[in-house]
Amino acid sequence: MENEMPWLNSVSPEQFIQNTKKFNDLMMMYRCTVREIRTKLEVLDDEFSATYKRNPISSIKSRIKSPISIYNKLKKLGYEFNEENIRTKLHDVAGVRVICSFINDIYAIAKLLSDQDDITVVEIRDYIKNPKPNGYRSYHMIVDIPVFFSSGKTMMRAEIQIRTIGMDFWASLEHQLRYKQGIENLDNYEEISNELLECAQNVIRTDNHMQMIKDMIGTFNDI
Ligand code: GTP
Ligand code: MG
Repeated sequence: MENEMPWLNSVSPEQFIQNTKKFNDLMMMYRCTVREIRTKLEVLDDEFSATYKRNPISSIKSRIKSPISIYNKLKKLGYEFNEENIRTKLHDVAGVRVICSFINDIYAIAKLLSDQDDITVVEIRDYIKNPKPNGYRSYHMIVDIPVFFSSGKTMMRAEIQIRTIGMDFWASLEHQLRYKQGIENLDNYEEISNELLECAQNVIRTDNHMQMIKDMIGTFNDI
């Protein structure tokens, strides 16, 4: 029979099994990291809800980067595919996206998280105060967080993106549209980009408007 899996020959089966196990163990650690962060966010949302009778967090999404995306990103950065590089060169193997109701909630959640003494904020990118030229807006935090395994405490890295429902609506559709194959080669690519930017500006206006209305209503419902 033809060898249907020639890639298996590049390492011994024992080595292959060992490598796969190491990679799967690392991904398990990133899944636990996401779970820790989700719990922290759910606790904050619950407490906020009990105190102020409303939920600043509309929803939470999370994902672990796929093996092929990990491989491609390391390759793009010029690094070898190994555990050390996955841990130190990539910040977004564990990714959590927090969708908030109002703009001010984003900053409230970011502060409550960064004030927790087990979280180390490695980097902040505020694409709300400084939107990307294409109109992308979101608040990005890279954090290190301890996760407790049977072997002891391990510091794990994660990317947390915090945005409003409006920002998420725009980013999700923009991502869908832009990742269509070869869209940059279209004759009207510039026009498409301008239309997307205009949509982003409309979302900014609506986000600000909603925040203004919320501020007008104030805290009159609070006990
Ligand atoms: P990568 O873009 O992931 O390679 O990382 P980076 O170091 O350039 O960080 P950046 O803060 O630019 O982006 C991190 C993540 O934010 C991306 O993986 C996307 O999830 C999101 N993001 C950044 N820019 C855009 C954008 O223009 N559109 C959309 N839809 N999402 C974006
Ligand atoms: Mg980028």
